Amino acid sequence: MMISSVSELLVSDKFLQEVQVKGWVRTFRSNRFIALNDGSTIKNIQCVVDFENTDENTLKRIATGAAVNIKGTLIESQGRGQTVEIQVSELEILGDSNPDEYPIQPKKHSMEFLRENAHLRVRTNTFSAVMRVRSALSFAVHKYFQENGFNYVNTPIVTGSDAEGAGEMFRVTTFEPNDAPTTEDGGVDYSQDFFGKETNLTVSGQLEAETFAMALGKVYTFGPTFRAENSNTTRHLAEFWMIEPEVAFCDLDGNMDLSEDFIKSVLAYVLEHCKDDLAFLEQRLTQEEKSKPQAERSEMTLIEKLHFVVDNNFKRVSYTEAIDILRNSKPNKKKKFQFPINEWGADLQSEHERYLVEKHFKCPVILFDYPANIKAFYMRLNDDGKTVRAMDVLFPGIGEIAGGSQREERYDVLLDKIKTMGIDEKELWWYLDLRKFGTAVHSGFGLGFERLVQFATGMGNIRDVIPFPRTPQNAEF
Ligand code: 4AD
Ligand code: MG
Repeated sequence: MMISSVSELLVSDKFLQEVQVKGWVRTFRSNRFIALNDGSTIKNIQCVVDFENTDENTLKRIATGAAVNIKGTLIESQGRGQTVEIQVSELEILGDSNPDEYPIQPKKHSMEFLRENAHLRVRTNTFSAVMRVRSALSFAVHKYFQENGFNYVNTPIVTGSDAEGAGEMFRVTTFEPNDAPTTEDGGVDYSQDFFGKETNLTVSGQLEAETFAMALGKVYTFGPTFRAENSNTTRHLAEFWMIEPEVAFCDLDGNMDLSEDFIKSVLAYVLEHCKDDLAFLEQRLTQEEKSKPQAERSEMTLIEKLHFVVDNNFKRVSYTEAIDILRNSKPNKKKKFQFPINEWGADLQSEHERYLVEKHFKCPVILFDYPANIKAFYMRLNDDGKTVRAMDVLFPGIGEIAGGSQREERYDVLLDKIKTMGIDEKELWWYLDLRKFGTAVHSGFGLGFERLVQFATGMGNIRDVIPFPRTPQNAEF
């Protein structure tokens, strides 16, 4: 017999037909009703066991978490809350789950507890919903770029460059910690290491993606990136996935248009394709917010928030305008910011970004034209000589969701910048070459995939939107 999925059966009208389904028991009540889930949907199918004709031992083994194979008749449900159910004729326990030991019981567990059981947490409603939405979003990312003429490029995970120049890299070496060859001046001699030079896990595929944009025109990466920054926040991971489009013959305005269109498109995709999961996550979030003071609760539900982003224009504001707004803002005057804004040139902290988005504009904001000295070396210098064509996309509840720029395409200006920032130009010879041979205006941005998943699912902590989070002091599983 063909095995059906729960999602198929729930919308099926093949009443009185024999069906077979395999899944895991979520609950078993009154010795009679199994709520069965197979991961195909957030919903369970009710399977009614004829307990009078089922042996005692089998009944005992129908426990939360057990894997079962069920055959039976699909019928219209008598009970409330479901339209169909299965009248079980044959039940086979495929894998037991001892209720005294199984950690995921049908009750509310803390997020912390579930993180410690990340190998099992995807069996809960919340995490299965999040992970299905994450999967749908990944598909939507590829769909968007593929349908818009972009080529997918796989940039290296192990690199010799620091794309952001921020020095937050994990070193890759085959040397034993206490037995590395040294140079004459006492440093480690990486010329004898596996790659013959210092290497690290990539912090961004941007520089390599630029080389491809200068041949294929429109490209994007979508892969893991790594940051050894010691940030214990709800928005930082040491290993996260980044989406980085890079486009030739595109300036900053085009880049802003692309980021806005892209984000709207992928959110519209999940609104259309993840209705059940979003409905569940929305109700979860509303419940969670009830424990917060009224003033901190959001005015919109999850699905309303997603529609709001899809249906409204992002506000585009220059860094200089933003500084004026912040300087004159209530929290700044009342010294409520941890980092007060006094003058032009200050780096914006997440408290400032969130004020702009959540309190002042109340919509997604794209900030652009930042001071050159707080941004990376590759951003195009404006004619004023002090700002660069940078942009950050800021989202409510998240802060920075994407960051990018128009790239410095002028050889001399770029070389100058590399030198003044103290970056070793020899390491970037190939990047400089792009400016020697057929250089052109080009732009791109990087969007943190987990922050996007956080926004789409309403999850407050980034550790809860990636299967196995890597954060300081934590690399279990
Ligand atoms: O702003 P970032 O550092 O920009 C870059 O890496 C550029 N090279 C991107 C480009 O222009 N191609 O990182 C881009 C995005 C951030 O906006 C944020 O969403 C996310 O990556 N991000 C992180 N997400 C989770 N954990 C972290 N530690 C992150 N650091 C950055
Ligand atoms: Mg950034």
